[in-house]
Amino acid sequence: MNKPKIVVTRKWPTAIEEKLKGLYDVQLNPTDTSMTVNELKTAMKTADALLTTVTDPITAEILGVVGKTVKIVGNFGVGYNNIDIKAAKENNVLVTNTPGVLTDCTADIAMLLLLTSARRGSEGDRMVRQQQWTGWGPTHLLGNKVTGKTLGLIGFGRIGQAMAKKAHHGFDMNIIYYTPRSPAQEVINDLQATRCDTLEELLSTADFVSIHCPGGEANRHLIDEQALLVMQPTAHLINTARGDIVDSKALIKALENNWIAGAGLDVFEGEPDIDPGFLKLDNVSLLPHLGSATHETRMAMGNRVLDNINAFFAGEEPGDRVA
Ligand code: 8YV
Repeated sequence: MNKPKIVVTRKWPTAIEEKLKGLYDVQLNPTDTSMTVNELKTAMKTADALLTTVTDPITAEILGVVGKTVKIVGNFGVGYNNIDIKAAKENNVLVTNTPGVLTDCTADIAMLLLLTSARRGSEGDRMVRQQQWTGWGPTHLLGNKVTGKTLGLIGFGRIGQAMAKKAHHGFDMNIIYYTPRSPAQEVINDLQATRCDTLEELLSTADFVSIHCPGGEANRHLIDEQALLVMQPTAHLINTARGDIVDSKALIKALENNWIAGAGLDVFEGEPDIDPGFLKLDNVSLLPHLGSATHETRMAMGNRVLDNINAFFAGEEPGDRVA
């Protein structure tokens, strides 16, 4: 029997690519440049499975291409807002993601941004590098204390809860959260977490607001000018989820006018193109979408995609099916 044909859209960890080569007829992407719409459409018509990342917009046009042979899209990532899920269902294309394996590393990056924003770490680093540091001073680069403060989580799934755990048990922070779901009672007890009934309640109470809800249309610009005005002037906003949840223009305005004290961002609207307004500001820390970027986690993500497609081609239901 012929091996199923797999197209991988980006360069993946070598050990995972080797495993794929051993099991399938694989087209890899050693140059790691993003595939064009036409290349993705060709892949949809020649392969059995397409393995994508956040940088591949898998639109209705691509999913509905005439002569489609792809039956499964295995996304390398927990977020799948790059894929038109409605169109995938309409075109009978199964979609999987990689939940669970990147929880801690993404929460670690959120904590890193929280700390660096609160303690002005990026600003201090720039000052030292640019040889502008003239010496210790009693009022030099004062930030905001983290320990014992209130952390507000928008979205309280796996990553939000992992962040809460680090913040509560490591930094003695009070945890408040806003989510449509009902988290397990033992999680709430362990974190002594308090639910906010409205987003406004969370935004007006928290010293640090960290975003952990999905991206996509439903949450687009959930944090807009109005929301930023509700936050405390000493508060910080952290986003490791998806860029489009925050209205960039509104955030730049808020940071310029000190409506809030600072922000830490790992994701951006239209990334990797960043609104130049951010680059001029000292009170924002910027990272290039590093949430899951550790050797261990990227391997685990690759293995998770492998598990999903192996199950599919063995005639079983993949564990992480989202469509
Ligand atoms: C991934 C992420 O690296 O998993 C996610 O949702 O945002 C990142 O950590 C990215 O999605 C790769 O596709």
